[in-house]
Amino acid sequence: MNTIAVIGATGEVGFRLIHALHDSWRIVAIIRNRSKRDFGPYPGVEIRQVADITDVDSLARALEDCDAIINTGYIWFAEYIHQAMQKCGAPVRHIVFTGSTGIFTQLSSPSADRKRHAERFILEHYGCPWTIIRPTMIYGHKDDRNLSRLIRAVARYPVIPLIGDGGSLIQPVFILDLIKAFRTALLNPRYFNKAYNIGARKACSNRALIACAASSLGLRARLIPLPASLVQGGVALLSMLGLSPISREQVYRFQENKHIDLQAFITDFEFVPVDIEHGLRVLVRDLQEHGLLR
Ligand SMILES: NC(=O)c1ccc[n+]([C@@H]2O[C@H](COP(=O)([O-])OP(=O)(O)OC[C@H]3O[C@@H](n4cnc5c(N)ncnc54)[C@H](OP(=O)(O)O)[C@@H]3O)[C@@H](O)[C@H]2O)c1
Repeated sequence: MNTIAVIGATGEVGFRLIHALHDSWRIVAIIRNRSKRDFGPYPGVEIRQVADITDVDSLARALEDCDAIINTGYIWFAEYIHQAMQKCGAPVRHIVFTGSTGIFTQLSSPSADRKRHAERFILEHYGCPWTIIRPTMIYGHKDDRNLSRLIRAVARYPVIPLIGDGGSLIQPVFILDLIKAFRTALLNPRYFNKAYNIGARKACSNRALIACAASSLGLRARLIPLPASLVQGGVALLSMLGLSPISREQVYRFQENKHIDLQAFITDFEFVPVDIEHGLRVLVRDLQEHGLLR
């Protein structure tokens, strides 16, 4: 049986990947913080701890005897993973990276630059086959830190403020579609040395997304559009005082279209990711089951 190393196994994507893969492969979970997750339900999973991904020596030891790697941590771990692979001489036959469609932003963004640089590094330096899967915003479970917050806000507040007219497009990816893509690509030569974007079947506007979130709760959304310039001014002021809940980059990014071209993904993976409506229903159920919705 092949041994698969999952880097970032305590993360939201990584831990769900462990659940999805542990029956079919021998799994090595590479983590830095043992107390963060309970791996008890997965007794066959071997935990290997590293101080930090930048600690190449401990990472090299953790990668020993692994046949493939899935990096569910940041894509800029690529340089450290590369160094560690060279150090330990692990027989790695495939490495799958979690990228981000954030690289397509037209805005100035140090984080997008770092991710683009990492993709270039992979292209230029990786000797073993690689695949990059670039999710849009990931959602679909109570801890997703994205649409779970929107659902809870819609359930809680009678009105929702909107930056600008809410017409910009968004295409969030349902977590189980992302997990399925990792499973499908792993050690499959069809996906070697390729990068794919993954998002929902169709994009929708932010306004439509909020309406859909409300309707998944049996509610009607009441929106208060706020002029974008006003929000930017307010955020700038609050940021100076260290009080802003969002950054100026997030305000600009909210107004940017974030839809993607899914065609290459659908053709090669032979499945169509779910609609946002479906994913939101699953998300609402998860929040309800955990008593997180009033
Ligand atoms: N969430 C989204 O909407 C979204 C959208 C597009 C792309 N992505 C990408 O998808 C990936 C997974 O997302 P996620 O939501 O699962 O993130 P997450 O929950 O924050 O998980 C990140 C994982 O990486 C580990 N990690 C972070 N820095 C590390 C370091 N210096 N050394 C060792 N381990 C480190 C974390 O360890 P600890 O548990 O110890 O902190 C955690 O296991 C990320 O690369 C993210 O950039 C996410």
